Amino acid sequence: MSNIKAAITAVGHYVPENVLTNSDMEKIVDTNDEWIKTRTGISERRILTNGQPLSFMAVEAIKMLMERRKITADEIDVILVGTVTPDMIFPSTACVIQEKIGASKAWGFDILAACSGFIFTLMAGVQFIESGSYKKVLVVGADKMSAITNYKDRNTCVLFGDGAGCVLLEPSENPDYGILDSIMKVDGTGGKHLYMKAGGSLIPSCHESVDNDWHYVYQNGKFVFKDAVKGMADVSVEIMEKNNLKAEDISFLVPHQANMRILTACAERMGLPQDKVMVNIHKYGNTTAATIPLCLSEYWEEGKIKKGDNLVLASFGAGYTWGSILVKWAY
Ligand code: UT7
Repeated sequence: MSNIKAAITAVGHYVPENVLTNSDMEKIVDTNDEWIKTRTGISERRILTNGQPLSFMAVEAIKMLMERRKITADEIDVILVGTVTPDMIFPSTACVIQEKIGASKAWGFDILAACSGFIFTLMAGVQFIESGSYKKVLVVGADKMSAITNYKDRNTCVLFGDGAGCVLLEPSENPDYGILDSIMKVDGTGGKHLYMKAGGSLIPSCHESVDNDWHYVYQNGKFVFKDAVKGMADVSVEIMEKNNLKAEDISFLVPHQANMRILTACAERMGLPQDKVMVNIHKYGNTTAATIPLCLSEYWEEGKIKKGDNLVLASFGAGYTWGSILVKWAY
């Protein structure tokens, strides 16, 4: 095994300006602010308008990252994009981004792991660094969930929002810092509880698929909730135990933001106080692959993440896909 470790050396994010509050949702479906807040923790979400695609948000996030790290696009070796809402099925949004930012020497591709999109994509990027093959890997987690949300279905439409986040991976100057460990899982038997039925080769787009709302997210929320609490908490505790870390050694849990109650349950299992849980669900809802990099970028901007901090990134989502990553912050 190589002794090169991959470190996150820069972060960036973007959220659209347009805000959809819970009281706006009350005008769209039969719901209320009280139910949404108490059952999910969400107060508002951002929606990308004017027909802008996913790549628009991703490029804005990347521009922030490049400005912060003082690098130019032609230094980037690989662009990896975790998303379920690419601009188009093909070409990949990685290619669209490569052209838009002018990353002349980069190659890349998209990765589909739904709400675990960022952590799965991050671990793919880590392999490119640890192998010694590449020096600058851009990892994007972004979703325009408004494009696949059914605003007639109150079970799902109050949950989702749009946003983008990204991190840069580089070889760590000190192998004690960076991405130290990961536990990644899939279980395809969970597929039937959370999916978008049509638009792929199983059910190509057709009148029937449109008439039946099969191009929108379907979720058996109650069922997924139970599995998400257990799945996310199990891998978060497992990665602590595997690395002999106690609650006091962890600076932050950085969880996927699907439901505030899932975050709280996961932190409790880890023995962490609530102020060690990164949260943005109240203002952005569930932005799918964007939740974790959005948290990282905003908390870093606010000076809350420090060099040497131990972070546990954790996620659970469609697939099922889930996992945890231990990061010792390197800058
Ligand atoms: O992102 C990755 C994976 N996804 C998750 O991790 C999401 C997991 N699931 C959840 O977060 C929760 O299950 C939801 C937030 C989706 C739903 O919360 P819940 O507490 O599980 O509610 P429920 O589905 O059991 O519904 C309870 C009641 C139902 O009414 P009845 O049948 O008891 O009369 C629903 O019809 O709440 C009703 N309801 C609503 N009421 C007002 C469902 N949605 C709404 C709504 N406003 N928007």
